[in-house]
Amino acid sequence: MTEKRICRIEDVPSNGLKECEVDNGAPVLVINSGEEYFACNAICPHQEVPLCEGMFDGKVLTCHMHLWQWDVRTGAPIGLAEAPLEMFEVSVDDGWLCIRASNALRVASLFEGIAQETLEKINAIAEERQCSEGEVLYTVGDPAEELFILESGRVEFLVGRDGKVTSGGFMVRKGEVFGWAPLMENQKQRVAQATCKEAVTLLSLNGAKVREILEEDPRSGMKVMMRLSSLLTKYMIAAGTS
Ligand code: FES
Repeated sequence: MTEKRICRIEDVPSNGLKECEVDNGAPVLVINSGEEYFACNAICPHQEVPLCEGMFDGKVLTCHMHLWQWDVRTGAPIGLAEAPLEMFEVSVDDGWLCIRASNALRVASLFEGIAQETLEKINAIAEERQCSEGEVLYTVGDPAEELFILESGRVEFLVGRDGKVTSGGFMVRKGEVFGWAPLMENQKQRVAQATCKEAVTLLSLNGAKVREILEEDPRSGMKVMMRLSSLLTKYMIAAGTS
């Protein structure tokens, strides 16, 4: 992802917060802490609450809704918080604050720890895609050919059951992989629905090609398959299907 200017330095209050928009419409929260600036996804990782309405003491950001807290230098959760903030790299260019999101593939837990060469091969087949708010990426019964990694924005995941879709109880967040059916044997159709809850950037990977790459490196392939089984278990529990 390329670097994007988001606001002038002087527009951010001292030891304060400013919500900005990047050009795909996604809200970004810019934070000043003394001499330093940070930026994160402007929406709470818990629920759809704007973090600019939260409390900030110069170091710790607190969401006013359920009091989740984060260290703004790293996005690490503190106390009650169960998920980190999605942070962006910040730089200054001629008085402008700019952000750069790290490549989602490199932070995707599904591929964590696999051989660098294998990760590069997967990266080479990844295609970036921009989607609009409300866009349905796939629904139950669609052919399952691609898997996705979320780069920015939020995607809601609904589980198909008895001919209907019901909330799986979770949002997909940056670096999370979804639509993994093409990695599984004989899973040719979608059994869930994924919908963009805001403007979204994602990486799309052809499942058959990912399988080919992993078959060439069985050690990495085994790691990915073990993580995939853990992910499936987590989602089955969240959806109440286990
Ligand atoms: S919505 Fe932010 S902590 Fe619950």
